[in-house]
Amino acid sequence: MEKINAVITGVGGYVPDYILTNEEISKMVDTNDEWIMTRIGVKERRILNEEGLGTSYMARKAAKQLMQKTGSNPDDIDLVVVATTTPDYHFPSTASILCDKLGLKNAFAFDLQAACSGFLYLMETAAAFIQSGRYKKIIIVGADKMSSMVNYTDRATCPIFGDGAAAVMVEPTTEDYGIMDSCLRTDGKGLPFLHMKAGGSVCPPSYFTVDNKMHYLYQEGRTVFKYAVSNMSDVTAHIAEKNNLTKDNIDWVVPHQANMRIIDAVANRLEVPIEKVLVNIQRYGNTSAATLPLCLWDFEKKLKKGDNMLFTAFGAGFTWGTVYVKWGYDGAEK
Ligand code: UT7
Repeated sequence: MEKINAVITGVGGYVPDYILTNEEISKMVDTNDEWIMTRIGVKERRILNEEGLGTSYMARKAAKQLMQKTGSNPDDIDLVVVATTTPDYHFPSTASILCDKLGLKNAFAFDLQAACSGFLYLMETAAAFIQSGRYKKIIIVGADKMSSMVNYTDRATCPIFGDGAAAVMVEPTTEDYGIMDSCLRTDGKGLPFLHMKAGGSVCPPSYFTVDNKMHYLYQEGRTVFKYAVSNMSDVTAHIAEKNNLTKDNIDWVVPHQANMRIIDAVANRLEVPIEKVLVNIQRYGNTSAATLPLCLWDFEKKLKKGDNMLFTAFGAGFTWGTVYVKWGYDGAEK
């Protein structure tokens, strides 16, 4: 039997209209554009500020565009997986809400929680379902409304994050393209450094938890930074070496957009020039599970069939990893 590969066949994306600039953030907390640009690299981020709209709204916009661009019939979609840390509700899943909004009748759907590494885990998950031979069209979506859990009085975290969503279609091929290899890792010892203190089953919501601001994202930035640089660099170098990828035949590095200094460190370790690194952190900030597919959405036009791409991310858990993709089609317009 011929080997089945799982290949990405299209990209859709969505970012909200509202732009939150560094100037505006400087009025909320004691910071300035120069600090944010030199320490993080974010100029502005998009915020979903219309009341009553959550992550599934952005996911729906992204997935609708994807279905249009790929000419997909809703009845043909087998599976939808949404990676998010900011679901519409604790339950049901954001993926099930998305299925309804897209009018999918023959799909099953679930959410995946791997924080900022969500899209890496999604690609690996979709690849395994496709390679089983039982599924032909899978939509994977990275979507996060980070503004719903950012404390806009905390200068250490509020400049970093933004809202957005992007979706890709994954399908089978017998050609030598697609999701070729990966190395994914999890280390639960990361819990103290990046988490939300309350709202889950350990510490359910109460007046106490609200009064004590325990429903916001908490991060010990310096520690997370250190682990992100070393783990992303190590695992990307490992996957590159295992697949005979060098600075000469790596076409694109697609890193999580958390901090420009982390992105530079990963590129330096691979000796890949920054021109070959997809970067949009200046415009969107860290949109968690959405950063990697939003890079695909922004730069889709530049991508060529056969391009060697290394995706890498690091997030709460800790979770991290690298996925090697051989791109499956010549670039398309947004
Ligand atoms: O996506 C999930 C994974 N997350 C990440 O990868 C994030 C990793 N961490 C980071 O990106 C960085 O650690 C941050 C951007 C969060 C912080 O940058 P840093 O260079 O590690 O700063 P720091 O926390 O060590 O703080 C340095 C100084 C401190 O002042 P002192 O103690 O040296 O006087 C902070 O109080 O900068 C101060 N500071 C600020 N100053 C102006 C912290 N935030 C700000 C701010 N504006 N917004």
